[in-house]
Amino acid sequence: MIRIIDDRYPAFVLETENTSYVMKLLPSGQLEHLYYGRKIHIGESIADVEALVEKRAFAAVNGNIYSQDFSSVSMEDVCLEVSGYGKGDIREPLIELEAADGSSTVDFAYDSYELKKGKEAFAELPGSYDENDEVDHLTVVHKDKNHGYTLELHYYVYEKCNVITRNVRFINTGSGPVRLNRLMSLLVDYNDSDYKVISFQGAWGREMSRNETLLGGGKYVGSSATGGSSNRNNPFFILSDLTTTEGRGTCYGYNLIYSGNHYEAVEISSQGKTRVVCGINPAMFSYDIPIGANFEAPEAVMTFSCDGYNGMSQNMHAFVRKHIVRGKWRDKDRPVLLNSWEAAYFNISEASLLRLAKAGRDAGIELFVMDDGWFGKRNDDKSSLGDWNVNTKKLPNGLKGLCDKVKAIGLDFGIWVEPEMVNVDSDLYRAHPDWAMEIPGMDHSEGRNQRILDLANPEVVDYMTEKMTEVFSSADISYVKWDMNRTMSDVYSPYLDAGHQGETAHRYILGLYRMLRTLNDRFPNILFEGCASGGNRFDLGMLCYFPQIWGSDNTDAVCRLDIQNGYSYGYPLSTVSAHVSNVPNHQTLRITPLESRFAVASFGILGYECNLCDMKKDDVEAIKAQIELYKKHRHDMQFGNFYRGRSGELYEWTVVGEDRTHAVGMIMQKAAKPNRPFERYFATGLKSDARYHFYSLEKKYSVKNFGDLVNAVSPVHIRQDSAAHNIIAKFVKMDGEKEDCLAYGDALMYAGVKLKQAFSSSGYSSEVRFFPDYGSRLYFMDEIEE
Ligand code: DGJ
Repeated sequence: MIRIIDDRYPAFVLETENTSYVMKLLPSGQLEHLYYGRKIHIGESIADVEALVEKRAFAAVNGNIYSQDFSSVSMEDVCLEVSGYGKGDIREPLIELEAADGSSTVDFAYDSYELKKGKEAFAELPGSYDENDEVDHLTVVHKDKNHGYTLELHYYVYEKCNVITRNVRFINTGSGPVRLNRLMSLLVDYNDSDYKVISFQGAWGREMSRNETLLGGGKYVGSSATGGSSNRNNPFFILSDLTTTEGRGTCYGYNLIYSGNHYEAVEISSQGKTRVVCGINPAMFSYDIPIGANFEAPEAVMTFSCDGYNGMSQNMHAFVRKHIVRGKWRDKDRPVLLNSWEAAYFNISEASLLRLAKAGRDAGIELFVMDDGWFGKRNDDKSSLGDWNVNTKKLPNGLKGLCDKVKAIGLDFGIWVEPEMVNVDSDLYRAHPDWAMEIPGMDHSEGRNQRILDLANPEVVDYMTEKMTEVFSSADISYVKWDMNRTMSDVYSPYLDAGHQGETAHRYILGLYRMLRTLNDRFPNILFEGCASGGNRFDLGMLCYFPQIWGSDNTDAVCRLDIQNGYSYGYPLSTVSAHVSNVPNHQTLRITPLESRFAVASFGILGYECNLCDMKKDDVEAIKAQIELYKKHRHDMQFGNFYRGRSGELYEWTVVGEDRTHAVGMIMQKAAKPNRPFERYFATGLKSDARYHFYSLEKKYSVKNFGDLVNAVSPVHIRQDSAAHNIIAKFVKMDGEKEDCLAYGDALMYAGVKLKQAFSSSGYSSEVRFFPDYGSRLYFMDEIEE
């Protein structure tokens, strides 16, 4: 809800179910930010806001006063909604520009407001949406006092999710052209500075690693200059109280609906205020705005919670699930897929793919995905990107031939593409070298032997949109994995003239969005999965077109614990795809138990990426049981409410179905320790006063897991790995522990379930938990009707 408290200096009160955001006009003409946080009572009288207003009698010494008429106001020390350099505020600005006369001072003052319902779509950018057109929308118009430029601030209030989104539009209503050097999407000022920033950095295979920065002074900056939102620094970040935990305390979550270069800064001012900004990265960015033209900054998302990081994540998850992801697949259960990449890499043929698909079908797989290697002369990563024609040596019957056979087996069929890229060794590059992002006459750096198509050029976007349309309609394709495997270098658009090269990176992203919009419209039934060498472009912009994204090329279950835990702070399970792969793992060579690989991948969109044809019969049988189990709980695992418990050496996760009658929990440890203390599992998100049946599944173990300890129980001596040992292992399975109890939700959440003891140098029995390195357990909780 948005309320305007009318007055000579009106106040604007934005309210979600649990939060309030308040601002008020200053007599000097700016909008002062008064409060953002826990919901507070504000009546209909302007007097109710007075307590929140800073009382200024004089300006801090050594600051610049705004004007002689307002000599107590130094912009450096006011919480603002709009800020630029030149009038005393020296903190991170919202806007930076160069006027026709070369000056860069801006002085935006409040002009008017408008209140509407419904989400306005951007002309070119993706944004949040509200299918019921219920979202409250406030536009506050500012005018630059000297040049007459217009700045519109847009606020949308998503009440139920406790999310407020903001975006900014600059309109050149001045009398000369403008060069825009920065336009942030969001600027929030806090009156205090006792915060830490939690941000998510990483690299290929190490996405979303959680980092904490304690702010004492100066600033924290996170950014991407890779051309994409990047695995180096995700646009999502948290501003947290110093004592906040997963379950308690206050924090703010921020994100940006954008897939290109981004920038986030948190700055402490000289007077102990904290400023948060985020938006397009101003580095390598400049945009010419002729008279009458405008520029839209992407939408930023913010939320607040008093219920710890989990509370904040719940808000973000609900928002992403309903107001970012869209189309047929938004609420629809996603299929369990089998991907050919780690099974075969480039070495594919119709016959080998069909063998794999059949093995998948027998295990319960629903969708078979042919990854890279099916087009042009693509036998390695050195050629053919750009040539989207079937390699008939590998697939003699074309895409349709293979697809029809996969469908006849009983599976849906999906393919891999990487449309934004081109290899120099390709027919496309030979025909159109000027379609690649290259600086004429200069040497060029490459990533994965490929160059980037110039999507700032509308002709390239049109060509590739049609090419993809041809590919996607050439067979009954149900799923597309859209990959992008490098970062930008030599950023230059041969299409733009020399004076506009600062627009290239943003125009590329706009071109990409146009292509994705068209393809989404043309193929509403296709399930698109985003990918960029794994999670190199995992952001809210992509999620507007791709309901799910491949979280990381790293399928190692131990690494995935950290990676998926990291994503879960800002993104719901339904957006993160996760695969079970073979061991030794292809990225780390680590050997983890199959049940743990499944346990971790099942907290997301489950898939398999391994050669089922070559796997041991026991493992294939185990996979079959896993898929059956996942399908039973799939809706909750994909769309339920996810809660993080402990993390570090032991991870603890819980997902709870929407009506809170069912939940699935997981614990997984990294390294095993001897002489372990008793262990508990703490659930989260259950109904306190409901009774649940808490249980684990039956377990059987091979005696070989215990090595030569078999001699501790065997009447005759058995040499480890001998024929006798193998024969015993074939016929004798050891029973694992089983948990089974009844307990109320609050007992499961606050007292925790005392689990059976873990094996600890002695004491094996079926009452003991076999829990070696990387051991895990899934626990199930079903409400009992009373
Ligand atoms: C990078 C992706 O992340 C992988 O999953 C795979 O699709 C390869 N590209 C194919 O080249």
